Amino acid sequence: MNSYGHFDDASREYVITRPDTPWPWINYMGTGDFFSLISNTAGGYCFCRDAKFRRILRYRYNGVPMDAGGRYFYIKDGDTLWNPGWKPCRTPLDFYECRHGMGYTRICGEKDGLRAESLFFVPLEHRCEVHRVKLSNRSDRPKTVRLYAFIEWCLWNASTDMENFQRNLSTGEVEVQPDAIYHKTEYRERRNHYAFYGANRPFDGFDTDRETFLGMYNGFDAPVQALAGTSGNSVAHGWSPVAAERFDLELAPGATEELIFVLGYVENPADAKFSAPGVINKTAAREMLEAYSTGVRVDAAFAALRAYWDDLLGRFTVASDVPELDRTVNVWNQYQCMITFFMSRSASYFESGIGRGMGFRDSNQDLAGIVHMIPDRARQRILDIAATQFPDGGCYHQYQPLTKRGNNDIGGGFGDDPLWLIFGTVAYLKETGDFSILDEPVPFDNVPGSEVSLLEHLKISFRRVATGLGPHGLPLIGRADWNDCLNLNCFSLDPDESFQTTENVAGGQAESLMIAGLFVAEGKDFAELLERLGDADASSVRSAVCAMEDSVKKHGWDGEWFLRAYDFHGGKIGSRECDESKIFIESQGWCAMARIGAGEGLCDKALDSAVKHLECEHGLVLNAPAFSSYLYQYGEISSYPQGYKENGGIFCHNNPWVIIAEAMAGHVEDAWRHYTKITPAFGRQSHDLRKVEPYVFCQMVAGAEAARPGEGKNSWLTGTAAWTWKCVSEFILGVKPQYDGLLIEPCIPLRYGTYRIHRRFRDAEYDITIRCTDGGPGKVFIPYSPGGHVLEVTV
Ligand code: BGC
Ligand code: NOJ
Repeated sequence: MNSYGHFDDASREYVITRPDTPWPWINYMGTGDFFSLISNTAGGYCFCRDAKFRRILRYRYNGVPMDAGGRYFYIKDGDTLWNPGWKPCRTPLDFYECRHGMGYTRICGEKDGLRAESLFFVPLEHRCEVHRVKLSNRSDRPKTVRLYAFIEWCLWNASTDMENFQRNLSTGEVEVQPDAIYHKTEYRERRNHYAFYGANRPFDGFDTDRETFLGMYNGFDAPVQALAGTSGNSVAHGWSPVAAERFDLELAPGATEELIFVLGYVENPADAKFSAPGVINKTAAREMLEAYSTGVRVDAAFAALRAYWDDLLGRFTVASDVPELDRTVNVWNQYQCMITFFMSRSASYFESGIGRGMGFRDSNQDLAGIVHMIPDRARQRILDIAATQFPDGGCYHQYQPLTKRGNNDIGGGFGDDPLWLIFGTVAYLKETGDFSILDEPVPFDNVPGSEVSLLEHLKISFRRVATGLGPHGLPLIGRADWNDCLNLNCFSLDPDESFQTTENVAGGQAESLMIAGLFVAEGKDFAELLERLGDADASSVRSAVCAMEDSVKKHGWDGEWFLRAYDFHGGKIGSRECDESKIFIESQGWCAMARIGAGEGLCDKALDSAVKHLECEHGLVLNAPAFSSYLYQYGEISSYPQGYKENGGIFCHNNPWVIIAEAMAGHVEDAWRHYTKITPAFGRQSHDLRKVEPYVFCQMVAGAEAARPGEGKNSWLTGTAAWTWKCVSEFILGVKPQYDGLLIEPCIPLRYGTYRIHRRFRDAEYDITIRCTDGGPGKVFIPYSPGGHVLEVTV
């Protein structure tokens, strides 16, 4: 079994010890509106605010070889050309190490006695990446070295950049100063922004034209200029502008040279774009270059970044006897929640940054992972999301991050969407106690003048689902529910149609048991909230919830588990009567979390059935047995080969629903087993099998019916992050934020059942030692009060 790396818990880093990982293992940098993706070989790109419209570096998804484009240092030492990150030259290194940390990445390579240590991060204060490289001569001979720093510009719109060549190949423009290269394509017209790549010393040569630097038919692995140790001093006019900066260095034995680069982005006011006709006003860029011009300044900015993450990750920590649990909880799960919040589902190595905007349901669920760290940003996000709702309670399925406007291409009509607004808002309220958010005026579809309070939006959301019921009194599914691929009113036979956007057959009456469970669970929370507010609507919410519970018991129970749905014609989906996909995970998770029929044993039975029919070595699959052919009445779900994605994959996002339900039912060992199966730190899959990063959750792990069960895909941007966080923090470790305090109600095997939690809650700090016992009270309530509290609880 190959190992490609390990955790370094003390420094909150993952250490990659071989560059040829089974898939690029990436990290993210950025905390505000400038973000970067960086792989373990320094591949990737950055953008400001919007990964489609403000893409700064060009990146080739689907390129060969994989992961082409990034920030590359080339080192020419004698006859050898190499990169500290191994790629793109792939010259064998004497030493390689990549450390992905919280918002930064270090890559170190050594060759023939020359060591290159690079640090990449996005500082808190500026829209830029800082690159620091230290070259040390560890040999006993003087070295004459040429260092090239290289990046390739994207012509801003990442989508047209890879399709509209008749235009693009004529538009590229740059400016060159002795220590910086400026990218100003389209700056002459409607763009007020430019990018730059500058160094803290003048370069000895440069290129800005890709062809001159690489050679017409060479790849990044064989740039003709670097191979020859020369520069063409080329100024790009059209074609593909790049920045390649050469530094000629003499290193005595033992000597070290440090160079600092800033890859920045600037927006100028429209009336201050130029310093002379056609010449960029570079004041802001010069300020940025100055801000990182010395090692001392870089150290200070880097220390500030580390302090930012120390603060965020210091709000919830656990000290237990299970290192895999601690490193997941204290570092990687929370970090992934932040990244998922920042990126939604836009930019990863699986999401190309040009497709999906901010999902209505996704963004609401993401809140559950970050509200304890960045409550103010959660508040703003809730208001932004709510503003994309329609007066009838429906909502845009997605909105664009740059404009915050609903996305017309996809529209609305997903049956579950409105309920997630209640989910997100309740999570915010319980964490912060800030009820003022409910009074905030929020428009519909962003139309000024249409504002009603956020509370009213919640009521409209609830009503939308409560009144949109089908023949069995169950919620209409619409285009789809949480499972985007269960398209029951779609009937598509045209391969060129998207299941997500195709016109649905009018009058579709397909119903969803997943939404029914969600409705009951969120309805109970909503009723509790309204009761606290003394709002008279509480009782009608309660009765709608009761009616739904009755409908589920009457029409949604299949004998051993909950049905999944009724199709367009009223046929059962997810029933023992079906030939395939007899059971689905979503309705077991949601109906059991909602505790529907718990008294009659339905939840226990449904969970046992999930274990029996859905559990495999690597987690719980979504449905079983998977569909073996395309069934146009079910839609995209059956388009996937068995064992992948929504057709029998382990869709990690929904595993925590079952785990939470197991915890609620008191099934300690089941909850723990499921949790350790999907949590990568427990290392259930070898690195080669899992393929994707072993430090973050992925959306999907191939299921039992797949060709390679256990293979991971779609790492990083997935609702799995927030849901596993909720699951582990609130249900396994059992620290549940409530309106008036913290409820301690763990569900962890007794052998691990003594641990310490540090929890910041509002403006209070709680240090709690938790001891789980057999036959203890099960739960203990700790009322909220400001200040520091050191407590021991036995449950
Ligand atoms: C995927 C879903 C995803 C949807 C979004 C589908 O192809 O399988 O997971 O939610 O696309 O557009
Ligand atoms: C990923 C989507 O982002 C999410 O909204 C959806 O619920 C899942 N796929 C399941 O289809």
